[in-house]
Amino acid sequence: MPHALITGASLGLGRALAFELARRGWSLTMDARHTEPLASTAQALSEFTTVRAIPGDIGDPEHRGQLLAAAATLGKLDLVINNASDLGGSPLPRLRDLSPTAYEQLLRTNVVAPQQLIRAALNQLNPNAVIINVSSDAGVDHYEAWGGYGSSKAALDHQTLTWAVEEPDFTWYSLDPGDMRTAMHQAAFPGEDISDRPEPETVAPIVAALISSGLPSGRYRTADLTAALSEKARAE
Ligand SMILES: NC(=O)c1ccc[n+]([C@@H]2O[C@H](COP(=O)([O-])OP(=O)(O)OC[C@H]3O[C@@H](n4cnc5c(N)ncnc54)[C@H](OP(=O)(O)O)[C@@H]3O)[C@@H](O)[C@H]2O)c1
Repeated sequence: MPHALITGASLGLGRALAFELARRGWSLTMDARHTEPLASTAQALSEFTTVRAIPGDIGDPEHRGQLLAAAATLGKLDLVINNASDLGGSPLPRLRDLSPTAYEQLLRTNVVAPQQLIRAALNQLNPNAVIINVSSDAGVDHYEAWGGYGSSKAALDHQTLTWAVEEPDFTWYSLDPGDMRTAMHQAAFPGEDISDRPEPETVAPIVAALISSGLPSGRYRTADLTAALSEKARAE
């Protein structure tokens, strides 16, 4: 049974990915900070697969150690998805209003934690493992008040592609999932009607297809992936 570790899997995209992979026969190790939503998601997932759900903050080194120790009880990892992310405030602060505390927290969660988690997990990865770091269009484009979050995702993109050069035995994807109707998206647009944004459950099958695609390491947008994956299938 393939084994995935997903950070931030109690809600939103992480939760949708956990269900998508569980239905496809993956065992799961996952986390989130709040105990109750994580426990109820893990309970629902246990209908399909074996789950280790460890509450904690991915920015906390001790928690990362506990998460990897729990993962080790299910064997080596075939997939790690660094999905948990900090937004930097709601409403989003312009750079002139972004405090050092808030910026350091953003960078700790969105940049340092993925790097340290992978660094600590390297000897727990199966050969040919896939690592996905969840990015954002805000890491490439420049929107007012998105500078803190966006620069953390730009750093994450850079980190991902550097990992790919340094550790070419694994496959490294930086993935922009596009806008999704989630708690984080609502926090980014407080008071706005976001009901026209797609549900994360529509994105999860595209991510699952990427995992098994054999596409080379790189930065991908789910918006482009459907076309890229069908072109690859046609060529084979
Ligand atoms: N939604 C969008 O439109 C959109 C667009 C582009 C990119 N993204 C990216 O997609 C990913 C998922 O976002 P989402 O919209 O699904 O977010 P979400 O609905 O807010 O869910 C975030 C998940 O991560 C957990 N989490 C947050 N901080 C954590 C931490 N420090 N340690 C451990 N777990 C943590 C949350 O649970 P707790 O709060 O209990 O910790 C929750 O399970 C993120 O990387 C985000 O940047 C989202």
